[in-house]
Amino acid sequence: MNDFLFHNKYLEEGQKISKVDFPDTMEVECKSPSNIALIKYWGKYENQFPRNPSVSFTLTKSFTSTRILYKPSQDKKFSLEYFFNNNRNKDFEEKLIKYFDNIQQYFPFLKSLQLRIESYNTFPHSAGIASSASAFSALALCLCTMEKQIFKNNNDLSQKASFIARIGSGSACRSVYNGVVLWGKTLSITGSSNEVAKDINKLVHPVFKTYYDTILIIDPSPKKLSSSDGHKLMYNHAYADARYKQANENLKILLGALSAGNELEFAQIIENEAMSLHGLLLSSSPGYILLHPNTLIIIEKLQNFRMDTKFQFAFTLDAGPNIHILYSSKIREKVIDFIESELKQYCKNGSWIDDKISTL
Ligand code: PMV
Repeated sequence: MNDFLFHNKYLEEGQKISKVDFPDTMEVECKSPSNIALIKYWGKYENQFPRNPSVSFTLTKSFTSTRILYKPSQDKKFSLEYFFNNNRNKDFEEKLIKYFDNIQQYFPFLKSLQLRIESYNTFPHSAGIASSASAFSALALCLCTMEKQIFKNNNDLSQKASFIARIGSGSACRSVYNGVVLWGKTLSITGSSNEVAKDINKLVHPVFKTYYDTILIIDPSPKKLSSSDGHKLMYNHAYADARYKQANENLKILLGALSAGNELEFAQIIENEAMSLHGLLLSSSPGYILLHPNTLIIIEKLQNFRMDTKFQFAFTLDAGPNIHILYSSKIREKVIDFIESELKQYCKNGSWIDDKISTL
């Protein structure tokens, strides 16, 4: 397995273009959606390499928009200011300074720039939607676009953006691409890599391209467990090896279901992934209960609804209590009616987000 192919490539390319020469402030703006994992990435090594391959749907409406104003700095030193919703955010700014330390080797031109980074999200902060995925993906797209603007090159922007986004937040590398996206080395997909994501839309049956993701907000409070602390729980988890094996096996079945348009098998696999993630959390040291009582009530209601109607839909969870319901356009009205009449009452202030897989 070669985990350093892209690292070496971007390191070498970066060194050739380090001298910045432009007089005024320049500007770049990029948007990137969040994504929901079908096969979960949980456990990593070294510089954000995944212990197992993962697959996700990139969303449409839940996105981060980032604008960077940049100019050569007077003292030839790197500096940045970060604003979220027009307010300076020093906490995230500190995280970004560390992140830029890490990625400057691939963008040596940044060393003499002064950046003002401004971001906003279209979804409520801490709504249980992975904001770090869309944030780092939008930022990485901005940085690669800046490189293009300054050096007028024709490099593949998405692949480098995926590589750079991964270093900020693993799952962010998947948000760079639309539709169905794979990240992580697997023998099942040629060209798959631990360093960058890859869109696998070509092998996906049209039914999945009509999929919605309705996100039931059960508890919008900030996560009890950050993802980086969560991944660390896998270092000496008793079930770690079994989990990585399971994820690879689930991936194989999911790829088959995605290409055959088998919605039943799709649901079985992604629900197994969601439950397994929480099983791992419960059995970690220390153990974490990230589910809310209402999460369990809703899951049971969804299972009964499926039994009564025979509708094909699936639910999944991130490392939190909120539920994503995934279903095709064929049953949209019925699912929305069910949410309105039976599930909404268990959501915080009746809130849910109506999202959709991004167009390919
Ligand atoms: O990318 P991170 O470090 O925020 O980890 C993401 C972890 C999960 O959301 C639980 C799973 C995934 O694959 O997105």
